[in-house]
Amino acid sequence: MLVFKSVDELQFWLDQKRSEGHSIGFAPTMGALHRGHLELVKKAKSDGDLAVVSIFVNPTQFNDAKDLEKYPRTPGKDMELLLSVDCDAVFLPSVEEVYPPGKEYSVAMEFKGLDSLMEGAFRPGHFAGMASVVWRLLEIVQPQNLYMGQKDFQQWTIVHEMLQQLGSPTHLVMCPTVRETDGLAMSSRNTRLTPEMREVAPIIYQTLMAAAGWLQTYPVSEVVTMALEQLENAGLKPEYFCLVDGFTLREIENRDSSTFVVACTAAWAGDVRLIDNAILKNQEA
Ligand code: PAJ
Repeated sequence: MLVFKSVDELQFWLDQKRSEGHSIGFAPTMGALHRGHLELVKKAKSDGDLAVVSIFVNPTQFNDAKDLEKYPRTPGKDMELLLSVDCDAVFLPSVEEVYPPGKEYSVAMEFKGLDSLMEGAFRPGHFAGMASVVWRLLEIVQPQNLYMGQKDFQQWTIVHEMLQQLGSPTHLVMCPTVRETDGLAMSSRNTRLTPEMREVAPIIYQTLMAAAGWLQTYPVSEVVTMALEQLENAGLKPEYFCLVDGFTLREIENRDSSTFVVACTAAWAGDVRLIDNAILKNQEA
């Protein structure tokens, strides 16, 4: 596994590999890796790509300086994990390498409100920073395939919209959410859960699954109420539970008003905020 810190060195290697006929699969991350991240690498490898992972804690997507400071950094463990799945190259740039001074790096896309709903309402500016860094990293790596997790569904939708709008040749691959055996979506935040909250947290996935069933019988507004109640009764503080169209993120009117229905939720488990989602219907795949 090769480790690159400079754009020039990485691009030199990538050009060489491309000229040898390799296709490049890219998974951007912010480190503190777990099995969810590793699945992106495994998918790239199984698709026949050379797997390139970036680890870059992007300052422009944090709206709180303290959050940026507190973001977990586990470089040694990250390298071990990436080696264990046969990752080909890791890109570990500095801030100056990603954002050379004197240049503007905000992506010229129309968010069409995608950045202000759900997670966007809670984290103003987050998605603009996220999209801009993904666009900049794509400019550097120029992969055939971009691997991103379903776990961050709104992020996936925004990147999908960005690639379409800007006519990118890169193909976006959605990798299913990797879960603990009890259904809790893997996240670096899970380690901060108290033992009590860790017990309760799988109710989020159970509620998403239940919503799929409820939607067969009940109107959307009732499904949302039932889901919020179930989360609250279990001891969580839900922030939202939305049934949306997977491309526009607009709330659906009923099960038949969209071909791509996704249930998205965010809830506080003590002082840890967890997000999760489930695709309830996908006629697009
Ligand atoms: P990060 O949170 O490190 O996530 C990197 C990638 O791993 C994302 O595509 C995310 O959806 C995926 N991922 C995280 N947990 C997962 C799980 N349990 N199952 C499947 N995939 C999972 O998301 C970011 O970083 C940043 O916003 C980034 C895109 C790198 C831009 O800075």
